[in-house]
Formats: sequence, structure tokens, C-alpha cells
Amino acid sequence: MAIFPPAQRIWWKEPIERSEILWITIALVWSLILFFMMPYWHLVGEQNLSNEAYRIKPDVFAERTEAMADKYTVREEGDTGTPVVHPPAGGDIYMLARLWEWWPVLELEKDQTYRLHLSSVDWVHGFSLLPENINIQVHPEYEMVITVTPNRAGEYSVVCNEFCGIGHHTMVGKIYVVDK
Ligand code: CUA
Repeated sequence: MAIFPPAQRIWWKEPIERSEILWITIALVWSLILFFMMPYWHLVGEQNLSNEAYRIKPDVFAERTEAMADKYTVREEGDTGTPVVHPPAGGDIYMLARLWEWWPVLELEKDQTYRLHLSSVDWVHGFSLLPENINIQVHPEYEMVITVTPNRAGEYSVVCNEFCGIGHHTMVGKIYVVDK
């Protein structure tokens, strides 16, 4: 901030300095390169998910998730007895975010395709699938739907990556992928 007015009052009519034009050009070109890299990596680098988003009421989403869990729970685990749900391959599966858990635990079959629905019933949470590089912001009132085909058997962690309060660091869910 200047205390005194500039010597040239009509400063915006001054010719632009050469070096400044150079920097503006570099910044513009670089921003365009980065901009077009987004669709480029999506198409060529198989990065950035093709996800869909729909409006949904939190209680409707909770109902659907519970209906799936009621039908396909195969066992329970942990101190809280979280259901481990093994839904039929090829169908719609649900994972719900709330303070402070991902519910339920899902058990999927390797090389099968599922429609994974994600939503929150309270706050904004972040779905971060480890060790894969998949990150999705999960909002209440919206469901994110991604088509997934797990290609490696094992145990995956779902870590919340949006700060959601005092229990944020404990908000860890699980997805098992089993070989059939
Ligand atoms: Cu949920 Cu942080």
C-alpha cells in the first residue's frame, strides 16, 4: 500500500514493462498447460475418477445402507461389532460417513464391478482409500457414485481426510477385497 499517490496519476495508461509482459505470458501459458492437463490425465493417464453425484436425503441414504447391511452381513468385527457386509457382485453398494466412522465394513470380490455409493449423514467427510490414490469429498445431501473394479485382493483402509471434529483421526473404515 502506498501512502502517497503515484507520480503518474493515470498509471494504467503507461506502457507495460517488457519484463512484466514476459512474466504475464509465462504465467498464462503455464496456467493453460495445467488446465489442459486435467482432461489429458483423465483420458490418457487414467487419473481423476469419473464419478457421479446425485441429491439424496441423509435418512434415505442411511436406510439404503442399512437395508444392504441387514441382508448381506457375514460377520462382525471390532469392539463396536461393526458389520462386515459382503454384497452380491455387480450391484449397488453403500458406505456411509458419520461422526466418526465409515459404516459398514465392505467385503468385495476381486475383479467384480460394483457401484459404490458414498454419502454423509452429518458433516463433510473425506473418503481417502489407502493404499490406492482415491480421494472423494463426501457431503451430506449428496451421494457420490463411483464404479469400482478392485483388481487386487487385500485389506484397504478408508481414512477421513476432511477435518470433522474431535474424533476425526479415529474415523477409519475398511474394505476387504477377497479372491473368489
Ligand atoms: Cu470425518 Cu474427518
